[in-house]
Amino acid sequence: MALPGFERYPLTFGPSPVHPLERLGDHLGGARIWAKREDCNCGLAFGGNKIRKLEYIVPDILASGADTLVSIGGYQSNHTRQVAAVGARLGLKVRLVQEHWVDYDVPGYDQVGNILLSRIMGADVRLDPAGFDIGIRRSWQDALDDVSASGGRPYPIPAGASEHTFGGLGFANWAYEVAEQERQLGVFFDTVVVCTVTGSTHAGMVAGFAALEEAGGRPRRVLGIDASATLEQTRAQVDRIARHTASLIGVQRTLRTDEITVLEGWAGDRYGIPVASTIEAIRLAGRLEGMITDPVYEGKSMAGLIDLVTSGRIDRDATVLYAHLGGQPALNAYAGAFGS
Ligand SMILES: Cc1ncc(COP(=O)(O)O)c(C=O)c1O
Repeated sequence: MALPGFERYPLTFGPSPVHPLERLGDHLGGARIWAKREDCNCGLAFGGNKIRKLEYIVPDILASGADTLVSIGGYQSNHTRQVAAVGARLGLKVRLVQEHWVDYDVPGYDQVGNILLSRIMGADVRLDPAGFDIGIRRSWQDALDDVSASGGRPYPIPAGASEHTFGGLGFANWAYEVAEQERQLGVFFDTVVVCTVTGSTHAGMVAGFAALEEAGGRPRRVLGIDASATLEQTRAQVDRIARHTASLIGVQRTLRTDEITVLEGWAGDRYGIPVASTIEAIRLAGRLEGMITDPVYEGKSMAGLIDLVTSGRIDRDATVLYAHLGGQPALNAYAGAFGS
């Protein structure tokens, strides 16, 4: 069953894979842990969560008659790499503003990994010195104006595709996909763990699960793990997008505040800088499961998952779904964090 009532342009291979992480669960001494893998959800430049968001935005892009996608992120943005891939697939030009979101000035940080892939795919990549912010940026508005001034027809895609009317739909649909996979597998995920930064991945899930609950589904917990150390701004953004998406998909009731949970403790002090727990979590998931996570996002949410299970904040008899949202291409830029 898919999210009803919205046009979707298929970019994924189909439902993303769901599989158990038995060795990780055994190692942590409790909780059955599964992963749902957006890092291998499609054949577009290593995939990731933005591909699913863009499936619901592409119909609007095509209807708009735009010829250039304009988006923004950090130098090692997974989002802009996925916009570049979708632009290539659609035959559209892509203009990317890559800001200096992370003070991680190792050689190659603006050359390898995600930004390299965007360049390979033909995007017009422009570096900008501005620092981290999940809000709407001047540099992005300037890029839109610039494309228009040179006769192009720009289509604006904000950071993480989050502050877009349809930004939450991709992961509302993800919730429906999970419910269908649960039926097939005979399992129920009472707890979902997801990395949260620009917010619409987490918010879309909350809205989708609320719709399913209203249709008779069992309630569950969605635990967002903050990865940018801007907790209040992130919480407010998740809250806003979740409520907007819930009303868009026809949820009748008002979302409760306890449905929107963003937990802190694993981001360190700054977006984009891995801390000891990030590196340990990346190594542990790699060593026990052969599952690769990244130092900016998933390594932090994996550290959160590990801590929540070992401390008992996630019950030992819980069945947990870890949303793996992609992000591995950035690893190249962080090679030094893993020794030589
Ligand atoms: C790999 C990865 N994980 C998690 C996230 C966070 O998702 P969102 O920005 O929708 O909160 C992102 C993007 O920001 C990402 O690229």
